[in-house]
Amino acid sequence: MSTTPLPTPAKPTPVAFSPKFPVDPKRAVVIAVTSGKGGVGKTFMSANTAAALAKRGLKVLVLDADLGLANLDVVLNLYPKTTLHDVFTGKSTLREAILKAPGGFDVLLAGSGLVEYSRLTSEVRDQFQTVMHDVLLDYDVVILDTGAGISDVVLYAISLADEVLLVSTPEPTSLTDAYATVKVLAAQQGRRTIRVVINQTLQPGEGRMITTQLQRVVDRFVPSLGSGPVVLSHIGDVPSDTAVRGAIQKRQLLFTSAPGSAPAQAVAAVAGRIGDLVQRWQGAKNI
Ligand SMILES: Nc1ncnc2c1ncn2[C@@H]1O[C@H](COP(=O)(O)OP(=O)(O)O)[C@@H](O)[C@H]1O
Ligand SMILES: [Mg+2]
Repeated sequence: MSTTPLPTPAKPTPVAFSPKFPVDPKRAVVIAVTSGKGGVGKTFMSANTAAALAKRGLKVLVLDADLGLANLDVVLNLYPKTTLHDVFTGKSTLREAILKAPGGFDVLLAGSGLVEYSRLTSEVRDQFQTVMHDVLLDYDVVILDTGAGISDVVLYAISLADEVLLVSTPEPTSLTDAYATVKVLAAQQGRRTIRVVINQTLQPGEGRMITTQLQRVVDRFVPSLGSGPVVLSHIGDVPSDTAVRGAIQKRQLLFTSAPGSAPAQAVAAVAGRIGDLVQRWQGAKNI
C-alpha cells in the first residue's frame, strides 16, 4: 500500500454528470467500478469496498450496473424477489427493490441475462437516470458495479459517476483493455483523473509499477485537453489469494470468511482511500 497523497478531486461537476443532476450538497458521491476486461474482480471489489465503507459509518448503496451479466446477487448470496428490472418495468417500486446486504450496506440488483439492457436505448438511459436521481439523496456513497469494456451501456453508467475506479489485473490483456477504457473515458467524458486498483497481483509493488507504465503510455498517446493531462491515480493493489475464491465459493464477503487475510487487508486499505476521497467530495460539496 503506497503512501502517496491522493490528488485533490476536481470541482464536483464532471462534464457528463452535471447536466443530469442538480448539484446538491447532500447528494451521494457516485463511484463507478469498471474494467476493460471482464472477470478481473469488479464485483468482488464493489461488494467488499461497500462493506468497509459501511463499517466507517457511511450509508452505501451498491447498484448492479452490469445490466446484462449481473452477478452481485451470487457474490452476496441474495435471492432477490424484485430487481432493477421490475423497477424499470413498473412492477415494483424502487424502495421494494433495494435490499439489505450482509456487510451493512444496501444493494439494488439487476437480475441476470436481461438481453434488453445490453444496448443503450433511450428508454434504458431514462430509466437508469430516474433510478439514480431517486437514490442520490438517500446515501453517502453509491457504487456502480458496471460491466467490462467500452459498450454504450457501460460508458453511460460511468458517465453518471463522480469518480471512476478502474480495476485491472497485471495480465497484458487486462492492461491493454484498461488502456482502451482510459482512452475512451478521456476522449468521450473529459475524465482527467482515473483511480486504478491492480487486483490479483503476485508481488508487492507490482501495481504501482504497472500503473506508472500505463501512465507513460497514456502521456504519450492520450491527448491532454484544455483541462490538463489524464492522471492515473494508483490507489492500491490486492494480491491474488485463494481466500478470495474461497469467499466467493462460500458466497460470503471476504471480510466475513477471511477477515485477517492479505487480500482482505488490501481491500480495506483501498476502501480507506476511497473513504478519504468521499470525504473530500463531501467537503467540496458543502462549500
Ligand atoms: N484477488 C483475487 N485473488 C484470487 N482470485 C480473485 C481475486 N479477485 C478476483 N478473483 C477471482 O476472479 C473471479 C471474478 O471476479 P468478479 O468480481 O466476479 O469479476 P468481475 O466483476 O470483474 O467480472 C472471482 O470469482 C474470483 O474467483
Ligand atoms: Mg461483475
